[in-house]
Amino acid sequence: MAEPEEPLLRLAEPPPPAGPPALGRAAPGGAVRLSGEPREVDDDDEEEEEEEEGAEGDGEEEPLLRPSWGREPRRAAGHTGHAVDMNTFLDDPEFAEIILRAEQAIECGVFPERISQGSSGSYFAKDPKGKTIGVFKPKSEEPYGHLNPKWTKYFHKICCPCCFGRGCLVPNQGYLSEAGAYLVDDKLGLGVVPKTKVVWLVSETFNYSAIDRAKSRGKKYALEKVPKVGKKFNRIGLPPKVGSFQLFVEGYKEADYWLRKFETDPLPENTRKEFQSQFERLVILDYVIRNTDRGNDNWLVRYEKQDDGPDLSDKDIQWTVTEESTIKIAAIDNGLAFPFKHPDEWRAYPFHWAWLPQAQVPFSQETRDLVLPRISDMNFVQDLCEDLHELFKTDKGFDKATFENQMSVMRGQILNLTQALKDGKSPIQLVQMPRVIVERSSTGSQGRIVHLSNAFTQTFHSRKPFFSSW
Ligand SMILES: Nc1ncnc2c1ncn2[C@@H]1O[C@H](COP(=O)(O)OP(=O)(O)OP(=O)(O)O)[C@@H](O)[C@H]1O
Ligand SMILES: [Mg+2]
Repeated sequence: MAEPEEPLLRLAEPPPPAGPPALGRAAPGGAVRLSGEPREVDDDDEEEEEEEEGAEGDGEEEPLLRPSWGREPRRAAGHTGHAVDMNTFLDDPEFAEIILRAEQAIECGVFPERISQGSSGSYFAKDPKGKTIGVFKPKSEEPYGHLNPKWTKYFHKICCPCCFGRGCLVPNQGYLSEAGAYLVDDKLGLGVVPKTKVVWLVSETFNYSAIDRAKSRGKKYALEKVPKVGKKFNRIGLPPKVGSFQLFVEGYKEADYWLRKFETDPLPENTRKEFQSQFERLVILDYVIRNTDRGNDNWLVRYEKQDDGPDLSDKDIQWTVTEESTIKIAAIDNGLAFPFKHPDEWRAYPFHWAWLPQAQVPFSQETRDLVLPRISDMNFVQDLCEDLHELFKTDKGFDKATFENQMSVMRGQILNLTQALKDGKSPIQLVQMPRVIVERSSTGSQGRIVHLSNAFTQTFHSRKPFFSSW
């Protein structure tokens, strides 16, 4: 139920009309396209290649097969340069190097390995020595993607279409949600999401349709018999898949595991504070992106117990969260966030961390100092929305109106968060605030705050044991 509008909020000037991406500018969280976007495959001059991809294919576009991109192949030793020349991260050479290693591994037969417990097609990507370096989640193998390899989900989809998917989320854009979560984390300076960007990979261990595999055999044959024609194809011949690639973090265990441990074996005071600070960052991330899937299995904790050494429990001792911290949180599995409307009932997708004792503690001054200056600045928020637009618009199913709705929800979350931090509230109090959306008016200069019904905020009349996963 929408209540009267309140034109209270000045938003920054609207962005200029969308034009072609500036040369060399990275779509935030994604690859830099040097001479075009993959979506341009519909162009007439691409007809020849388009025919190679029938409608029955797995729906992946194949910009790599398009020589008109005019891109210099990479000169890595042993790399053919065909498979993934679109993964160009000009602004992030470290990440580019990691992706290159994943590609090289595939070239030499060390293929990404499906993560068995996942409900979707997610893969551990390896380096040439077989070490896991990333988690790749292809768009086409998402829980409701058309090539999802898990049969239970398939039957769910066929037998129960009415309860198919999450009604408040854009379907089949989980990979963008993963990359978007990292973008938000990075812009807010939270540092809890392992770096995640949009990447194209091809591997015979991915789930492909029989037709794609048959075409691949034809391409391989062409490569062997008529090298001049065949050199257009990547060596495997299968179409590359677009998906999210998240850096693999070492030494972490699921939060559930540590939370149980900390119950019986409480943390020393300095570490407890560090954990609290990290926890607050997780809360802020989830709240801003309105994550609908944060169970205690979807965040990880790394904790190295320090038995020896000085007693650090002295409250005068300064503590900061650094790479060397003894405790660190990693927010993984961010594919079910950025709803285009608030969930109809909070019970469907509660923030599970809200039942933790840590959620009862007011946000620390450190967290408030970190986040408030950014989110209370409307130009910052507008900038964030524009960066997300750059990222999200790369999807072939992108819809401007839906995106605007996603941003209205996010701006509403940010508005509540700003107030909560200013008022010294706790995470529990934050999730109990009435939901709100901030729409951008057609002139773009003012935001319209719409207060939604109070009925569905997360409530805490009976606190459950924090480790129960219901
Ligand atoms: N960045 C990462 N670093 C280290 N381990 C990770 C990372 N991402 C995922 N994992 C491990 O892989 C498991 C599955 O990952 P994730 O939950 O993201 O996949 P999923 O396919 O969405 O699975 P599900 O549907 O079961 O949640 C995690 O429980 C975790 O153990
Ligand atoms: Mg998971």
